[in-house]
Amino acid sequence: MSKEKQSRTVQTTGHAWDGDIQEFNNPLPTWWLWGFYATVVFAIVYWIFYPAWPIGDDYTKGIGNEIEYTTKDGKTVTTHWNTRALYERDLQEARAVSDKFAASLKDVGYADILKDADKSNYATSAANVLFADNCAGCHQPGGAGLPGHYPSLVDDDWIWGSSYEKVEETIRKGRQGIMPGFSASLKDAQVSDVAEYVLSLSGESVDDEMVKRGQKIFHGDAGCVVCHTKTGQGNIDMGSANLTDQIWTVANINTKSDHDKKLVAVKKIINNGINRSMPAWEKRFTDTEIKMLTLYVHQLGSSN
Ligand code: HEC
Ligand code: HEC
Repeated sequence: MSKEKQSRTVQTTGHAWDGDIQEFNNPLPTWWLWGFYATVVFAIVYWIFYPAWPIGDDYTKGIGNEIEYTTKDGKTVTTHWNTRALYERDLQEARAVSDKFAASLKDVGYADILKDADKSNYATSAANVLFADNCAGCHQPGGAGLPGHYPSLVDDDWIWGSSYEKVEETIRKGRQGIMPGFSASLKDAQVSDVAEYVLSLSGESVDDEMVKRGQKIFHGDAGCVVCHTKTGQGNIDMGSANLTDQIWTVANINTKSDHDKKLVAVKKIINNGINRSMPAWEKRFTDTEIKMLTLYVHQLGSSN
């Protein structure tokens, strides 16, 4: 635009510097002005209805916008509009839904819960959270277990029994896995022999002579059969592991590649014994929570 044209179309404040430097005085565009007035009106309305202005230690609370919610302990709270209260109200609504489901599980047996898709879905997802928060620290996420320390809950091998009743009892009362150590009562060679025999029960042995000698020790003075039974299959009432399957829950031998290392791992158990425990949860969970966890754990590992 040429200089003359500009001075004709644009208003100036009349100030001029250095002869020809002028200060423009353009009016604000109308759309902008109306937008500005609208924000002013919005702000005033907002100040009236929502918490806005600080006053000393306090602030204006806004009017006509109260939120009412019920806390976990059943107290009803009415308060001015605020996001914390909105959150509490959302929680209350979520609690109502989950309480309804939890109540619907209360007097229902395991089989009936499984037959009802809504109930079993709810139980599984609620138990999933309970498990992650309380059990996965030991049994690992998903229940995979930690060889040598915490049993896997996803295999179909149960130290303490697989029925709903047994699993529930395990969770409710806790369990003690106790086996005495034999380092004082057996000679090292005897421990090797009986370890070789234990390996033979799950098809892992290489030395028949050792197995023969170990078998005598197992069935004789050492008294292994008292807990592990004559067949070596263990007793779920005692929590004595089944020694005839491929699943080792205490002796960490599946990660060992050669036979000698496996033998050493089994010997370590026989020498030192076992003392590990599963905590009792009866006091920490409601009956319904225990029921949901039982269903969940049972489903992780068992097809029956
Ligand atoms: C402090 C570690 C720890 C925590 C936490 C824990 N467990 Fe255990 N759990 C164990 C140990 C150890 C055993 C093995 C007990 C034994 O040797 O007999 C076990 C055994 C079990 C068994 C029996 C497995 C079988 O083969 O019979 C079940 C079922 C079980 N736990 C479920 C749970 C559930 C459900 C939770 C959470 C509510 C949980 N555990 C939390 C340590 C734990
Ligand atoms: C007083 C009962 C008792 C006696 C006696 C006993 N055990 Fe055990 N044994 C157990 C229990 C209980 C477990 C499982 C503990 C657990 O899971 O926490 C176990 C576990 C084992 C395991 C580990 C199995 C695995 O899955 O990792 C081996 C190996 C074993 N015993 C061998 C023997 C041998 C060999 C003898 C005899 C020299 C013997 N036990 C005597 C109670 C006994």
